Amino acid sequence: MKLSGNTIFITGGASGIGRGLAEALHRKGNKVIISGRRKALLDEVAKANPGIDTIELDVTNADQIARVARTLIARYPTLNVVFNNAGIMPFDDITGPLDDAQAVHLVNTNLLGPVRVSGAFVEHLKTQPESAIINTSSVVAYIPMAMSALYSATKAAIHSYTLSQRFALRNSSVRVLEIAPPWVDTDLVFKSGDPRAMQPEAFIAETMKLLEEATSEVVVESARQLRDAAGPNEHGVVDYFNQMILDNPLPTP
Ligand SMILES: NC(=O)c1ccc[n+]([C@@H]2O[C@H](COP(=O)([O-])OP(=O)(O)OC[C@H]3O[C@@H](n4cnc5c(N)ncnc54)[C@H](OP(=O)(O)O)[C@@H]3O)[C@@H](O)[C@H]2O)c1
Repeated sequence: MKLSGNTIFITGGASGIGRGLAEALHRKGNKVIISGRRKALLDEVAKANPGIDTIELDVTNADQIARVARTLIARYPTLNVVFNNAGIMPFDDITGPLDDAQAVHLVNTNLLGPVRVSGAFVEHLKTQPESAIINTSSVVAYIPMAMSALYSATKAAIHSYTLSQRFALRNSSVRVLEIAPPWVDTDLVFKSGDPRAMQPEAFIAETMKLLEEATSEVVVESARQLRDAAGPNEHGVVDYFNQMILDNPLPTP
């Protein structure tokens, strides 16, 4: 994907990976519009980066998505990149009763959110000479983390949906990319300083390099092994990965 001269809409762009990529893309000469629910945070990013535009959007709200898409397409007729980055990562315990409200909110945010946002922009993207949809999955789309089982499943679903989108749009101007991050030290759960997590700055720098050449997936070097582990032997890898987490617990807030 060419990394300058685009008009890029990023969901969840006021923090973490979204903010890092928004700022990096802004510096490279793209018009960047970020969204999220926290207005104060959107304002802070806009103030720190003159030229970045903001719009409030809760991706669980289908009407709001449709409204925001209409507004942005009218305001930026050359909008050509939609980057589905917003997401949440609650932990769950699937050996016990389901927290139904949490499950519905998670699927609405991580799966239906990107699906609805894509749906709201795709007709417009097809009118642009070169355009892209970028979806953020995770390495746990490939090797699920059992203590975040439904989160892992939403990311596996996003990977699957992205494959379909890429094929379905193959004869249009819309390229479809997937970013599958490893553990990056953001506030997704909480910023822990755990040395096993990749530093956001390093992740953004490597991702920006890969994005330039990407035609399908963006997977940083440290995530490659987990991404490639899925296949006939994945059951053993899933056991190994999850046992390793149990033996070396994740930090808690
Ligand atoms: N960090 C990692 O280790 C990691 C690994 C793999 C994949 N990812 C994925 O990378 C993406 C970015 O996460 P991050 O690590 O940068 O964490 P983050 O800093 O918490 O960013 C998540 C963003 O999503 C937004 N968001 C959450 N719910 C939303 C909703 N209902 N409507 C609109 N925006 C919403 C949040 O903004 P508001 O709260 O203001 O709405 C926030 O800016 C997520 O999809 C995550 O699953 C992260």
